Amino acid sequence: LISNLSLLPPDALLGLMAAYKEDPRDTKVDLGVGIYKDDAGQTPVLKAVKAAEEMLLTTETSKAYEGPRGNQLFDNAVERQIFGDNSEARAQGRVVSLASPGGCGALSVAVGFVKRLSQQGVVWVSSPSWPNHAHVVRAMGMATDSYAYDEVSSGPHAGKVDFEGIKTTLAKAKAGDGIIIQGPCHNPTGIDLDNAQWEAIAHLCVEKSLFPIVDVAYHGFGNSLDEDMLGVRRFLSIVPEALVSYSCSKNFGLYRERTGCLVAQTQSTEHTKVTLSHLADIARASYSMPPSHGAAIVATILDTPALYAMWVEELDLMRGRITSLREAMALALRKHGKDVAADRIVRQKGMFSLMQFEEGAAQKLVAEHAIYLPNSGRINVAGLKLDTIEYVAKCMAPYLK
Ligand code: LMR
Repeated sequence: LISNLSLLPPDALLGLMAAYKEDPRDTKVDLGVGIYKDDAGQTPVLKAVKAAEEMLLTTETSKAYEGPRGNQLFDNAVERQIFGDNSEARAQGRVVSLASPGGCGALSVAVGFVKRLSQQGVVWVSSPSWPNHAHVVRAMGMATDSYAYDEVSSGPHAGKVDFEGIKTTLAKAKAGDGIIIQGPCHNPTGIDLDNAQWEAIAHLCVEKSLFPIVDVAYHGFGNSLDEDMLGVRRFLSIVPEALVSYSCSKNFGLYRERTGCLVAQTQSTEHTKVTLSHLADIARASYSMPPSHGAAIVATILDTPALYAMWVEELDLMRGRITSLREAMALALRKHGKDVAADRIVRQKGMFSLMQFEEGAAQKLVAEHAIYLPNSGRINVAGLKLDTIEYVAKCMAPYLK
């Protein structure tokens, strides 16, 4: 039977990760998959994570299943990250959450839920977006459509959110459709909605009866933990119902521990119960119950003041390093006459920057210079190093528009 199948190409980002590992050139630069790296090019375990693991080693007494919601201390702590400490929706019992295998596991369950709400609906994804968004939607048996997101032309709005474009494309959306909206640090553009735009998009969702899935994968990588969530909080205060997928991969550096959470906001405690029953049912048919180690680490950090302070400091350092790399890259690009690209890279937030290259540039940069980036032209800014930035900018400049 397997002879009926043909070989699939690897996932673009994961394929790039494997090709980078095998490349013997010692000048190679990895700007592919979104993983934070330090000046030495390493992705060390955060000190706060190590300290939490040490505590867990002595306090954990069982590996028995925790149930469909996983670690509820973790669930509550993530809810506080999303809604803040004084949330009316939480106080009113309109919020419930389940730990999940990474943000991706949360997204899959979220899309499965939207499908139960509207069999004929589609899920709208920004264009561009993280390629796996559309992949997850289709794998869950739903169709996707895309809404415009950023202005790429070279006018005064270049590299900004194209809010008119968002509204025009979403005019075609139908009641019951889902929409994935990324939280802080949009992947791949690094261009975020401002707070007024979050509000406007919330009203649009209400007017058109769209069901929102807010994907928060880079909390703390924009401006600060609090500031990053202002737009999302405003949005959630306007829409009556929403799901939020929250990933701890980047901000806690827990990539391989697959640590995420799916948070639901509903209109009433009764709807909260119904929603939880469906989310747990969808999860049960897939991964059954969530992994525990990463969730226990995050709960320990968020609920232990000394570890929390340690984590915030480490997160600030990661964000600060990315900001310096953006500034250094902009300086290097300006030396090569690439002012537009330089302006963009300093304005963007988070790990990524979507460079405006000529067609085929990414393949050439990989083949000729061992600079690894996906064909979309997205670079993981955290993969740059101060001592290689000049080289990277020089190699990229001839291909930049
Ligand atoms: C990325 O976009 O590089 C990250 O979100 C990692 C991934 O799983 O693709």
